[in-house]
Amino acid sequence: AIDSNFEKTYEEVDRHEDHQVWTTDGKEPTEEKQGIHGTHVAVDFDICIADGACLEDCPVDVFEWTDTPGHPESEIKADPTYEDQCIDCMLCVDVCPVDAIDVDPG
Ligand code: SF4
Ligand code: F3S
Ligand code: ZN
Repeated sequence: AIDSNFEKTYEEVDRHEDHQVWTTDGKEPTEEKQGIHGTHVAVDFDICIADGACLEDCPVDVFEWTDTPGHPESEIKADPTYEDQCIDCMLCVDVCPVDAIDVDPG
């Protein structure tokens, strides 16, 4: 499962669209090790298997597919492009079969 403490245990290394990208070692993401995208709505790209339930169920369409060619789990990922629209319903957290998503209502 995604580390819900990632803001402390990971380092912010990059930005993608308008959100942050985090990795454990503070190094740039690689094809095989993508890290976490987003902060309020965070998706661990190294866990996501492109199930798609989050895209289908999010009532405000926070997620978009993004390509991750060469990643061992899946070559597309649910990117929290519109995380600022999130209404903290927690549906995505509940439906993801691999617990790749963390939502922090803060
Ligand atoms: Fe969408 Fe709800 Fe998940 Fe926020 S918590 S991203 S509104 S499904
Ligand atoms: Fe990925 Fe889980 Fe969504 S596997 S596509 S984050 S439901
Ligand atoms: Zn992203």
